[in-house]
Amino acid sequence: MSILITGGAGYIGSHTAWELKAQGRDIVIYDNLSRGHREAVKGMPLVVGDLMDTSLLEKTMDEYKVDSVIHFAAESQVGESMTDPQKYYINNVSGTLSLLKAMKEKSVNKIVFSSTAATYGEPERIPIDEASRKNPTSVYGRSKLIMEQILTDFDMAYGLRYVALRYFNAAGAHISGEIGECHNPETHLIPIIMQVLLGQRDEISIFGTDYPTPDGTCIRDYIHVTDLAHAHILALDALYQGMKSKVYNLGNGNGFSVKEVIDTVEKVTGKKIKRVEKDRREGDPAILIASSDRIIKELGWEPGYNTLEEIIQTAWNWHSNHPDGFKQ
Ligand code: UFG
Repeated sequence: MSILITGGAGYIGSHTAWELKAQGRDIVIYDNLSRGHREAVKGMPLVVGDLMDTSLLEKTMDEYKVDSVIHFAAESQVGESMTDPQKYYINNVSGTLSLLKAMKEKSVNKIVFSSTAATYGEPERIPIDEASRKNPTSVYGRSKLIMEQILTDFDMAYGLRYVALRYFNAAGAHISGEIGECHNPETHLIPIIMQVLLGQRDEISIFGTDYPTPDGTCIRDYIHVTDLAHAHILALDALYQGMKSKVYNLGNGNGFSVKEVIDTVEKVTGKKIKRVEKDRREGDPAILIASSDRIIKELGWEPGYNTLEEIIQTAWNWHSNHPDGFKQ
């Protein structure tokens, strides 16, 4: 029996694949390599295919005797989702429906799903718990919320059991330095700061210095990608043990402003970073901090990387040794 990992060659998917492999679990990665990297899952079974290809999904499930799924494959850029909503609704929503159709056909009834803090939109309270109002401000967030709702309906009608994990800001890289974050184009704060350190960009733009926060810049909750990976495995094992469908937040519960993140990178690397203050980026909430109490209490999840310094250290280890990402 094996675990199908859709989007398993991507950033969070590949880190989860590495942890599962380290535990000796049987896995098969399913990725169309539009954003994922073959090099991130070297030596692991990889089927190159699209989520919309229901029959290839079914064939893969038969061939590898799949009995559960971890579903990462999705478009995930907030800005792009606003200019190309069709891409997000087709790839994320229709793609998930195609996967669920294959699962139903093959009687695979357990799935761990990557959801997002973007399902909440502008938060009504901090920290954000799972019961907080869901009012996504982007098409990306809306597409993920729709996917959560589809899972609920499939649970009620067909007995599909799921865990939806709403991540806050995934960051860092594998402790080995062998795999890490590699997006093209890159839009996330920490990897962009790394590109400045590597001389690939002249400066870091700080998007907005007039937010209602102590230093005026946005506050986010950064969680290490391997801590996220462990949460997926805990969630999957709970489903194997018969747990009912659940939704969990995943963050460290600490907020850091954009300026604090840049300061911490300077401290960890001993290098100075040129910063330029710019206008706000559209759609950015001022503060996003998770309450992860539910997954801590119910599944015993514990973050292994508790400080921003440790998270940034692993990111720097990856980026400094792979300045061109997986292209080297
Ligand atoms: N930022 C900058 N300069 C940059 C890049 C980012 O100041 O060059 C700021 C952003 O404005 C934001 C913070 O750094 O305040 C973090 O930005 P990221 O792009 O790294 O991450 P986001 O918080 O925008 O995005 C994350 C996830 C998304 C998810 C979103 C929910 O990566 O998948 O949270 O709001 F949808």
